[in-house]
Amino acid sequence: MEKKVSYDAFWMPFTANRNFKADPRIINRAEGMYCYSDNGTQLLDATAGLWCVNAGHGRKEIGEAMAKQVAELDYSSPFNFGHDIGFEFAERLVSFTPPGLNKVFFTNSGSEAVESALKIALAYQQAKGNTGKFKLIGRELGYHGVNFGGISVGGLTPNRKGFGPLLPTDHLSHTLDIANNAFSQGLPEHGADKAEQLEQLIQFHGADSVAAVIVEPISGAGGVILPPKGYLRRLREICSKHDVVLIFDEVITGWGRLGASFASEAFDVVPDLITSAKGITSGVVPLGAVFAKDEIYQTVVNSAPEGAVEFFHGYTYSGHPVACAAGLATLDIYQREGLLERASGEIGQYFQQGLHSLKDIPSIVDIRNYGLIGAIQFAEPQDGKPIGFDILKRCYDKGVMVRSMGNTIALSPPLIIEKQHIDVIVDTLSNIAKDIPA
Ligand SMILES: Cc1ncc(COP(=O)(O)O)c(C=O)c1O
Repeated sequence: MEKKVSYDAFWMPFTANRNFKADPRIINRAEGMYCYSDNGTQLLDATAGLWCVNAGHGRKEIGEAMAKQVAELDYSSPFNFGHDIGFEFAERLVSFTPPGLNKVFFTNSGSEAVESALKIALAYQQAKGNTGKFKLIGRELGYHGVNFGGISVGGLTPNRKGFGPLLPTDHLSHTLDIANNAFSQGLPEHGADKAEQLEQLIQFHGADSVAAVIVEPISGAGGVILPPKGYLRRLREICSKHDVVLIFDEVITGWGRLGASFASEAFDVVPDLITSAKGITSGVVPLGAVFAKDEIYQTVVNSAPEGAVEFFHGYTYSGHPVACAAGLATLDIYQREGLLERASGEIGQYFQQGLHSLKDIPSIVDIRNYGLIGAIQFAEPQDGKPIGFDILKRCYDKGVMVRSMGNTIALSPPLIIEKQHIDVIVDTLSNIAKDIPA
């Protein structure tokens, strides 16, 4: 197909620019479960874009709500002014959050939600008089976006390396244990004891210096790593014991991915702060949020003198009216179509069975899944060069879009997925995997 535009100027994120520009994969249209390449090839979207298009592509209601909002109020400053749609959206959002998390701080992305959550945790500790609590604890292989706070608590080496000394942090071990938990369906049995490391880290640094712990309930970008049964509950207990704020980064796990509004609900563990983005608008327009416990909000707000700004933080586009309109329309779709619970029902079961039907292919060393998120990990190739990206390209050539990380292929389809789509994803991966040497 003849190239219509130049690919020179766009410095692409998390992409091998030279490689991509030599052999681009251009998507110019999408609808429902499908994207369409510039030459018209239909591609089954097995990753909901970047874990975000939960309601499926091209939802007209969302676009219509946004257009109506632009005509009514395109923008108004969120500093010292408000608009009804921002307050309406916040109230609606907290009807989905776990009990007690009834305050919303708006951002524009997951990375900004993480920065905001870390700063809220620090502000809370200061407001409580815990003036020495500044240290943050993350986890190996964790991904919390790309800003300085997020890469400090994050645990993916290439994202941190070369960006300076970063914030004072420490990290828990990741919970991937293929030797003991390979091919677990749902949460793995072994490894809850890894949570005890938190107790050790807090002892090591001193409880009076640790402010917050942040984990993804299921690590996404690190390779879809699930929490062993009981692990998150133990983190909760240890944080409560030492007055450490527990943050769940639910940028991926929120909004139906696990068959509930949040992982917190699916796993029955309530953190102090939740970060959200992506599915909050089904990926249609950038929007992020931090959900905070009422006590955190009250403590920060009431510690400032009457009439003074209580929290010196916010964005030009916090609670942007057009993004809020998109979010409200998205929530309408989720509720009307029962999408938030769908992954915990028959379709989630079918997805699990489909993925695990690949178990006996020799090149596959692990399959992990929960709700409508899954991963297939391949054996490390002899030459040590990760194979995931090669598999991604082969899937693309066969009409299926997946995500790769190292030797792992991740799947997180739109929640509208049907059985026939799962069959196509599984067949495609099966054919490709059988060609890969063990
Ligand atoms: C768990 C988690 N946190 C934060 C982010 C960053 O979100 P964004 O890319 O919107 O900044 C991501 C993105 O994938 C994520 O998966």
